[in-house]
Amino acid sequence: MISLGIRIYGDDILRSESAEVEEFGDELGELIEKMTETMIVEEGVGLAAPQVGVSRRVAVVNPDPQNPDTLLALVNPRILSCSDETDCVEEGCLSVPGIRGKVERPIAIEVEYQDRHGGKHCVRDAGLVSRIIQHEIDHLDGVLFVDRLSFGRKTLVKGRLRDLARKGKRE
Ligand code: CO
Repeated sequence: MISLGIRIYGDDILRSESAEVEEFGDELGELIEKMTETMIVEEGVGLAAPQVGVSRRVAVVNPDPQNPDTLLALVNPRILSCSDETDCVEEGCLSVPGIRGKVERPIAIEVEYQDRHGGKHCVRDAGLVSRIIQHEIDHLDGVLFVDRLSFGRKTLVKGRLRDLARKGKRE
């Protein structure tokens, strides 16, 4: 298995809004396969296409790395509704190595998405899967979990983010 390589904080593609997928052909299937491999090699529980340099609305999630049945690929995912109840859980991101922090998010969500063939699905989830999906959809909108940290935590990680940005920046 091969990693496509992960774009790091400071890379502009992580800050741009990804485009809707309109073609459901072999190219999309291949992207999903490569993203899934990359997520496994990099030991992530989720990965969004812009993290591998592709500005398309595609994400893969892997909530239980020991159980391949939990692998899920989401094309054009959209949150339909979310619970008023939130929780605050520590997150990390392959694109922001070395930094973790607590992020407040709705506990439960209802998400509409398409599969690699264009078929429409709806998933309701609470807990870890819900959190990962919200984190990945943020990526598709150019949002990173560090944007959602508390003011105090943001202040604490500011210096490290600046160092990362220097490395992540592409000419
Ligand atoms: Co991430």
